[in-house]
Amino acid sequence: MQSLDKNFTNHKRPPRTGEQVTVGRVEELPPGRGATVELAGGRELALYNVGGEFFAVENFCPYRGAPLAGGLLRGHVVECNWHGWRFDLRTGQCLTRANSHIESYDVVIEEGWIKIVV
Ligand code: FES
Repeated sequence: MQSLDKNFTNHKRPPRTGEQVTVGRVEELPPGRGATVELAGGRELALYNVGGEFFAVENFCPYRGAPLAGGLLRGHVVECNWHGWRFDLRTGQCLTRANSHIESYDVVIEEGWIKIVV
């Protein structure tokens, strides 16, 4: 879904290819934390560890474009630092505005490596 402002889009969202991209080791991101994952071509995602389960979403709040990796994490919900919009990391659904959402990406853990399916 697009931002409320039609000129306000996430240019760092990676294109969907189905490729698994290895982004790091599980021990590098402690539970309850989020991090920005930089990808090739200047793309990026936000990655979170929720009690040992990893979630990846686009690193861009559709309201005004804040990076969501630094948002406040409460269970499976991240709250944007700028104006408080909240998103369910499992689905990307915005819990503040029903008609808004962010892209979410599958995460695979293999032998301690975190792989995001872009
Ligand atoms: S930019 Fe995210 S709530 Fe304002």
